[in-house]
Amino acid sequence: MARETVGIGMLGTGFIGQFHHQGLRHVPAARAAACYGRDAARREAFATRNGYARAYDTIEGVCADPGVDLVIVSLPNELHLEAIETAARHGKGVACTKPLGRTGAEAAAALDSVTRAGVWHGYLENVVFGVEMVRMREIIDAGGIGRPVTFRAREAHSGPHAPHFWDRDTSGGGALLDMASHGAEAARYLFGKDVAVREAFAWGDTLVHGDRTTAEDNAIMIMRLEDGRAATIDVSWSSKGGLEGRFEVSGTGGRLISDMLSTPLRAFIERPAGYLGEKADTETGWVFPAPDETYSHGHDAMLSHMVEAFRTDTPPRETFHDGLEVNRILDAAYRSMRSGHWEQVHGAVA
Ligand SMILES: NC(=O)c1ccc[n+]([C@@H]2O[C@H](COP(=O)([O-])OP(=O)(O)OC[C@H]3O[C@@H](n4cnc5c(N)ncnc54)[C@H](O)[C@@H]3O)[C@@H](O)[C@H]2O)c1
Repeated sequence: MARETVGIGMLGTGFIGQFHHQGLRHVPAARAAACYGRDAARREAFATRNGYARAYDTIEGVCADPGVDLVIVSLPNELHLEAIETAARHGKGVACTKPLGRTGAEAAAALDSVTRAGVWHGYLENVVFGVEMVRMREIIDAGGIGRPVTFRAREAHSGPHAPHFWDRDTSGGGALLDMASHGAEAARYLFGKDVAVREAFAWGDTLVHGDRTTAEDNAIMIMRLEDGRAATIDVSWSSKGGLEGRFEVSGTGGRLISDMLSTPLRAFIERPAGYLGEKADTETGWVFPAPDETYSHGHDAMLSHMVEAFRTDTPPRETFHDGLEVNRILDAAYRSMRSGHWEQVHGAVA
């Protein structure tokens, strides 16, 4: 029988934790039960601002809380596996932000832990829930552009906001892992997941931020499907002028193009007027204020879908199987960066 409410355990009260919480605004079944963040002042402020009943100083505290049904992992990459294993050990459902793991091996261990515990799992990839992306898929399904043949993504900003992204040893990678995780899943979503990704070819280098990271701050990846079709994903941590998120698919009978920066609103402002949008590089002059990022970037639709799927105990559209596939594609891309050759996506699943 479906649950009436879902107690949310929010692990991580930073940037994406707040987006995930906001994504629950229109989900009446969601109950803010418990949260965890490392910094006490931020954690308490998050709990107070968002109405969480309890704030814990450990991951274990949230996962063991009897009021928590569904754990949402909004923590740095290096803590995803630990958080998932803790949630699974306590028999809680678990949804995790991208990337599922730092490597395919970590993502496989995450999938293994939820499978062995028999708990519900969801992969939080907001891009494939974005209103424009979903419309693109509907048009493809209706035959509007014929058979999709190639896909291209450009995802970029001027660099991450928190130190954990920059330390390759703890984060697991640079701009490729951080940003192409979105593009890889968008390509799978638009091409259709019935055709597996067979191999990847990639270039990456530290072109601008050598003083902050040893990881690649710019990268280009090509992923090729079993049937020969291909997707190009071009990412950067050194692009000025706000968040870039362009996705294009070209088919035998047309093409579809979306651009996250082409907001319906353009403004020229002489004085700062507060938050304008993610990674906006300027506060004045010609700016592009995002009217409602949580909606337009897909977090609202994603969280509604996930909570409803969990409530009714049905598999969501995106699961840890998808997160694992993305990590395997990125692993192949990193191997290719080192070898200079196409590399197989080990264990590709159709
Ligand atoms: N669009 C998206 O889906 C999207 C966007 C941004 C980030 N993310 C993902 O979300 C995760 C968190 O990123 P963020 O931007 O929210 O980070 P953040 O630094 O803003 O927040 C991190 C949170 O984790 C907590 N934390 C616990 N242990 C920590 C540690 N050892 N080091 C740092 N923080 C620690 C912090 O207290 C904080 O609450 C990453 O895996 C990232 O890839 C996803």
